[in-house]
Amino acid sequence: MSTGSTTRVITTHKLLEMKQKGEKISMLTAYDYTSAKIVDEAGIDIILVGDSAANVMAGHETTLPITIDQMIYHAQSVMRAVKNPLVVVDMPFGTYQGNPKEAVRSAIRIMKESEADAVKMEGGSEIMESVERILSTGIPVMGHLGLTPQSIHKFGTYAVRAKEEAEAKKLIEDAIALEKAGCFAIVLEKIPAVLAKQVSEALSIPVIGIGAGKYCDGQVLVMHDMLGLNNSFSPRFLRRYGNMYEEYLKAFRNYVEDVKSGDFPNESEQY
Ligand code: KIV
Repeated sequence: MSTGSTTRVITTHKLLEMKQKGEKISMLTAYDYTSAKIVDEAGIDIILVGDSAANVMAGHETTLPITIDQMIYHAQSVMRAVKNPLVVVDMPFGTYQGNPKEAVRSAIRIMKESEADAVKMEGGSEIMESVERILSTGIPVMGHLGLTPQSIHKFGTYAVRAKEEAEAKKLIEDAIALEKAGCFAIVLEKIPAVLAKQVSEALSIPVIGIGAGKYCDGQVLVMHDMLGLNNSFSPRFLRRYGNMYEEYLKAFRNYVEDVKSGDFPNESEQY
């Protein structure tokens, strides 16, 4: 059973205070009990149960195939581990776009069945009605602008977004509208640092960047990428804090070798 949000140390209110004090916010993805427990112990402020699980956990090319049942499963696993951080769950593709009633049903399912603290939704003016309806039920919403991977087939590329003036202008307008609607924070993905600075300064809610530069109020990375578990993904914004691909490989190879040679198990490893 989860600890429940009432015992949560990090709340949406606390995040707002952190922005006001100029205290940077740390956010990382997690999708399972074991790693969420370690992330919590490390002192992270926000855990995102990201739909990037579609990529790093399930091996899909895009985030589109992951289902609401799969997101709830990941979120429940994380919630069983976590005491301090705020837990935000991505609303998966197809559960909120174009149908505000369906959006409310999806968000309520996620919150009821996972007992997480908030949901995240990709997009601006196009999904505003859904955002507003969900907020009206009392569910905290985190926005997500810039590169929005659920729209990859519209963009056609994972390149930096909002380099052109018109797109930058729309992004600022969307960010302001999301804040006005009542979102408690916004993720900005893969946009120029100067634009992210402008947005962070214009908003009173926290702006969390991924590939959006140093002026954001906080940073988020995908756990598998920052651990170096995924050695085929090397965007410029990614700082690796380990080479876990090599560590795993070494451990697995040693195990195979020990089993084959009869070295494992030895006398002290048997009953
Ligand atoms: O799904 C995810 O991991 C995300 C982050 C990239 C912000 O949305």
